[in-house]
Amino acid sequence: MDQLAVLICFTVFTFTTADDAVNTKAFPKDFKFGVATASYQIEGGWNEDGKGENIWDHLVHNGPFIIKHNDTGDIACDSYHKYKEDVRMLKDLGVNHYRFSISWSRLLPTGFANKVNPAGVQYYKSLIKELKANGIEPFVTLYHWDMPQPIQELGGFLNDNFVDWFGDYAELCFKHFGDEVSNWLTFNEPISTCQQGYGNAVKAPLIHSPGIGEYICGKNMMLAHARAWHIYNDKFRSKQKGSVGFVVDSLWYEPSSNKTEDVHAAEMKRQFVWGLYINPLINGDHSTMVKEQIARRSKQQGFKRSRLPEFTEKEQKYLKGTLDVIGLNHYSTVLVSAQEKPDPSAMGFFVDCEANEWKSDDWEKSGSDWLRVVPWGIRKLLKWIKDNFNNHKIIITENGYSDREPKLLKDDRRIHYIKSYLSNIRDAMEKDGVNVIGYTLWSLMDNFEWTSGYTEKLGIHHVDFNSSNRTRTKKSSAEFYKKVIATRCLAE
Ligand code: NOJ
Repeated sequence: MDQLAVLICFTVFTFTTADDAVNTKAFPKDFKFGVATASYQIEGGWNEDGKGENIWDHLVHNGPFIIKHNDTGDIACDSYHKYKEDVRMLKDLGVNHYRFSISWSRLLPTGFANKVNPAGVQYYKSLIKELKANGIEPFVTLYHWDMPQPIQELGGFLNDNFVDWFGDYAELCFKHFGDEVSNWLTFNEPISTCQQGYGNAVKAPLIHSPGIGEYICGKNMMLAHARAWHIYNDKFRSKQKGSVGFVVDSLWYEPSSNKTEDVHAAEMKRQFVWGLYINPLINGDHSTMVKEQIARRSKQQGFKRSRLPEFTEKEQKYLKGTLDVIGLNHYSTVLVSAQEKPDPSAMGFFVDCEANEWKSDDWEKSGSDWLRVVPWGIRKLLKWIKDNFNNHKIIITENGYSDREPKLLKDDRRIHYIKSYLSNIRDAMEKDGVNVIGYTLWSLMDNFEWTSGYTEKLGIHHVDFNSSNRTRTKKSSAEFYKKVIATRCLAE
């Protein structure tokens, strides 16, 4: 069967550039191809039909005005009104699934579950219905950074009651949408959420608490995920038969040399992602390496206990085994070396690990400083996940390329990126035996790229943000991806 598919692969493609390294073996028949978006980045309708305020609404309207050109998500791609057009684009691409997120404050204007907004429920019901009518599986993220402002005013992730509030919200989603949705993802990107939102304060809610707030945020996020998983497991799973995953943001950390200390530093960086945020959900606790590292530094700094809050035994039991699938957001790779003289007083994600990271000048640039094109990194990362987490099931929930051109419709660099990353994913599956069940490209269309506003473009459809109807236009990458999905293999 696979051989037949390879043959088809060679005959169908005529237009792509030759690339010797491309894996032309067909993806398995049940491998899922999709695209992703997130509520605040595309919906707009920020205060329509009873929606409450969230932290991004609050930031863009009240400052500090840190967003490029003072852009806002007030209208964004206007998907609140144009979701049917979005589904037509999805249908045209032929995707198996669509990953989108629910805006918590559209459903629960204050964040609390005592007052449901019927228009919000209706919006997501209509979207889901439209997707299903077109044969597209919804993958729903419950939290993609748009915390209801009233909950933030009580501390957001820093308030231990967050676990209850999130659980109530999750339960409501399972109840209203769970008969039609089988794929749930609780949180999107703990590093961006906790380290950038509660550590070095570069994303909403801009809390500056490196090495303390960010780790408390992580602890409550883990417990809130487990709460949602248990609610699903106890009350919905037997009927709805779905899965509850969690989306982690991870670069590949490549040692800059084979010196023991650099290899160790790269592993430490990986542990500051996976040991902090995935190990608790699979094995019940932070990894030993990350626990010991933060405890040692905290002690040196005179703290009475580790700055990384511990899980009690009861919490460990509650957390363990609550990850049905790992959602992986991966875009790029960095080189890592050990710090010669770590600063003993420094605190936070970037310094507690006592490692330096940087990008090689040889790696192709993109429109974003943080994104270099390093396709082999994803294969190494996938293999590492397999080896460290007993071949846990993985779905790539985001991967994509950014440019800054006002209207780049012939986006060859994006095609090259997608092709080379997919090829490495195929290698990881075929040659390394990694259990990858699907791939989700970021993004269906250009959208509000957080503090970069509309300057960084990651879509395979262009959106005219100057036109009142937010006209969408297909880029060549959409055509390319469509063919990949149709043939289930890569060009040669
Ligand atoms: C990760 C985030 O989940 C998404 O919201 C963002 O737009 C992309 N990365 C690109 O930066």
